[in-house]
Amino acid sequence: MNKPKVYVSRVIPEAGMTILEESCDVTVNEKDEQLSKAELIKNLQDKDGALVMLSDKIDRELIESCPNLKAVSNLAVGYNNIDVEAAKEADIIATNVPEVLTEATAELTWALLMAIARRIVEADKFLRAGKFNSWGPKLLMGNDIYGKNLGIIGFGDIGQAVARKAAGFDMEIAYNKRNKLSIATEKRLGVKYKNLPQLLAESDFITINAPLNSETYHMIGTEELEIMKETAYIINTGRGPIIDEKALVEALKEGVIAGAALDVFENEPEVEPGLLELDNVVLTPHIGSASREARYELAEKAASDLVAALTGGEVENPVT
Ligand code: GLV
Repeated sequence: MNKPKVYVSRVIPEAGMTILEESCDVTVNEKDEQLSKAELIKNLQDKDGALVMLSDKIDRELIESCPNLKAVSNLAVGYNNIDVEAAKEADIIATNVPEVLTEATAELTWALLMAIARRIVEADKFLRAGKFNSWGPKLLMGNDIYGKNLGIIGFGDIGQAVARKAAGFDMEIAYNKRNKLSIATEKRLGVKYKNLPQLLAESDFITINAPLNSETYHMIGTEELEIMKETAYIINTGRGPIIDEKALVEALKEGVIAGAALDVFENEPEVEPGLLELDNVVLTPHIGSASREARYELAEKAASDLVAALTGGEVENPVT
């Protein structure tokens, strides 16, 4: 029997390649650069399966232009880049990779939270610019994290991991999500539900750990930012379009909120130019899951589900 033909749209960790190569005829985008949609369509013409990135738009046009495609595996937990409905109509199995990146993404959320609260990036730039001439009682003062209110928007695996990691900071932790948890679960996790305006008004640190969908698109805009405390920070490791980036720049410039730390952007890889000019912002290039451990496991899981989908095996993480 001929092996299924698969295309991998970027160079992935070896662990994933080994799994794919055992059962498939594999072609990789060795250039390891983002492909345009036209290039991706061209490369997928004779392929049965594709292992794609969150930056590859698997929309209806692509799906309808790739007649052989039977499975698409997304090297990410978020799958807003895939038109799941169009895939279903074309009998394409789409998969994502939950769980293995939960802790890594929650850790980055905390790294950003701490970096913005204690002005780590600003301080580093200050020192490298040769400005550290003497210790100063008012030099680069930031804010305590200990004892403050943490508000988590999106309370799935990653949001809950962010809450767990607050242990030791003695914070009051609130969450907002579509479906409120049971009282017993809230008790076990040490969190309480707040509706969005209440969470915005009362939190000192707000982290966004929600998926992007029609309900979360621009969930945070001018009106919501105005509800926040002037001393509050917002951290986004979910998806860029959850925040209206232009509104955020205005709020940061006007002192409506104290600062922001962002790993994701509205029009990635572009970043709203206003953000680049501000000191009260920390910016990272979508590296939430970029620990070695998480990326290796991501590659393995994405590869094994693609193989399962193409060989009649049991698919672990289909998206519907
Ligand atoms: C990263 O953003 C992911 O969705 O896996």
